[in-house]
Amino acid sequence: MSFTVAIDGPAAAGKGTVSRAVAAHFGFAHLDTGLLYRAVGAKVMEGADAVEAAQALMAEDLEGDLRAPGVAQAASRVAVDPQVRAALVDFQRAFAARAGGAVLDGRDIGTVICPEAQAKLFVTASAEVRAGRRYRELCEAGHEVTPEAVLADVKERDARDSERATAPLKPAGDAVVIDTSEMSIDEAVAAAIAVVAEKR
Ligand code: C5P
Repeated sequence: MSFTVAIDGPAAAGKGTVSRAVAAHFGFAHLDTGLLYRAVGAKVMEGADAVEAAQALMAEDLEGDLRAPGVAQAASRVAVDPQVRAALVDFQRAFAARAGGAVLDGRDIGTVICPEAQAKLFVTASAEVRAGRRYRELCEAGHEVTPEAVLADVKERDARDSERATAPLKPAGDAVVIDTSEMSIDEAVAAAIAVVAEKR
C-alpha cells in the first residue's frame, strides 16, 4: 500500500533535511520536487522554452549543479506558469503512489499534487533565519554570495511563490506547521517523525 508524506514550505526552511530524515527513518523513497523546477529553470537559462522543457524532462536532467542561486531564481520564474506545473504533475503523483511509501517536498504537495497524502507538514522559519542557513550552505558549496543578496533572494522567491495564481505556497488546511526558527536540526527532524508516526 502506498503512504504519502507531503512536506511543503518556503526556501531554506529545512524541508530538504527533514524530508531526507523522515524518508530514511520510515524507509520511504524521497523526491525533492524543487529539483524538477530547477531543472526546467536551468534549461531556460540555456535558451529552451519552459513548457517544452518541462514536457520533455528526463531523470538525467535532475543531475548536475542545480543548487546555484541563479537557477533557484529561474526555477521560481518558470514555476509561475500553469503549463509548466501541469507538465510535472503526473511524474510527481506516480512517485507519490509508489509502493513502500514516499516523501515529496515542495510548495504545493499537500494542496495540489497529493491532497490525499496521509501525513502533511508545513516546515517554515523566519526569512532571516532561512537566509542565514542558505548563506552558510552556499558558501560551503563554494558560491560567492553576500548575506544581503541571499536575504533579498529568499524574500523575492517567497513573494513570487506565495503570490502566484496557480498552486501558491501555503499550508494545506490539514497540515501540521513546524516552525524551525528556534529549533536545531535534530529537534525539527524529531518533530516531523512524530507527526508521521502518528498517522502511520
Ligand atoms: O525547493 P527549491 O528551493 O529547490 O525550489 C525552487 C523553486 O521551485 C521554488 O522557489 C518554487 O518557485 C519552485 N517550486 C514550486 N513547487 C514545488 C517545488 C518548487 O513551485 N513543488
